[in-house]
Amino acid sequence: EKAGYRHFMAKEIAEQPRVLAGALEHYLGDAGLALPEGLDFTGVDRLTLVACGTAHYACAVARYWFERLAGIPCEVDIASEFRYRDPVLSPRGMAIFVSQSGETADTLAALRHVRGAVGAVVGVVNVPTSSIAREADIVLPIHAGPEIGVASTKAFTAQLLVLALMALRAADQRGRLDAAGLERHLADLRGVPGLVNAALALDAEVAEIAQHVAEAQDVLFLGRGPLFPLALEGALKLKEISYIHAEGYAAGELKHGPIALVDSHVPVVVIAPHDDLFAKTMSNMQEVMARGAQVVLFTDAAGVAEAGPGVWRTLTLPTAGWLAAPIVHAVPAQLLAYHTAVAKGTDVDQPRNLAKSVTVE
Ligand code: M6R
Repeated sequence: EKAGYRHFMAKEIAEQPRVLAGALEHYLGDAGLALPEGLDFTGVDRLTLVACGTAHYACAVARYWFERLAGIPCEVDIASEFRYRDPVLSPRGMAIFVSQSGETADTLAALRHVRGAVGAVVGVVNVPTSSIAREADIVLPIHAGPEIGVASTKAFTAQLLVLALMALRAADQRGRLDAAGLERHLADLRGVPGLVNAALALDAEVAEIAQHVAEAQDVLFLGRGPLFPLALEGALKLKEISYIHAEGYAAGELKHGPIALVDSHVPVVVIAPHDDLFAKTMSNMQEVMARGAQVVLFTDAAGVAEAGPGVWRTLTLPTAGWLAAPIVHAVPAQLLAYHTAVAKGTDVDQPRNLAKSVTVE
């Protein structure tokens, strides 16, 4: 069932253009957004996004989208903290629970915790028959198909795509986007399958970089804005399957501590498409390069033109809009973790100590 791939993870990474095209087909018709009727952001005064692991990072990206596009106050938390911290909930609030399996114990418990205290409980799941799907008022399946590898890949990018469409629905319902603005963002998302396909073409380049990364003891990932959670996701993916210690940081937080770790033995992956924060991230990149770090830069053509000299390896990703960029930049992060794990000879699909579905808290 690996369809000729060596690992399920490789198959699932490669499947993403098709998976994302399928999700778009479900939620984006010729007439525009085709999300469930009942998904109403009009009077929502607070959005609460809760999940674990990779699904939590998808929520963390979505916060930037919901806040900027729809102007809704947003909080994002991991389920195991959320459910025990007396969160302040609003009867006009909407709570969104994101889970590939739909069975994660803490996420399900968090959902039960808010029921009755918020206006709407929404589930974004991959398994449509799951507990979270059953217990949510409104369910948006991500249509990624079965994900077997313990490391979540296609479910992450499909979660991002569905959350982006939800943020656009919210912006539209709240009168925050004119028709042209909405169409521009929709065009950005319609391009995602093709852009992800182009990102996959970097596979051989990433595999070569991974040979070096496999020698490292520690790896840092940096990003800003919607790419900050991508830094967290890149680090999680690398540590869970290659067992190399990795940390993701907001690039601006570097000089508040983690830069002390940096020397010529610590590769630093900088995730920086040419967006409104690019110049800021570049100055953080210069700071780590000045400490001898070998930088791997994920950017696009405009970013390559402005990055300056001294970058150890650059991956040139296709140019993507503000919503598509985090989805596109997930691909080299997945490939880097995958090829590093293969180089180290670890069990890619079944990493030690981990289960695909965490049904105990
Ligand atoms: O099934 P879920 O999406 O609720 O699972 C959440 C996490 O356990 C999961 O994303 C985990 O972090 C993955 N192994 C990451 O690759």
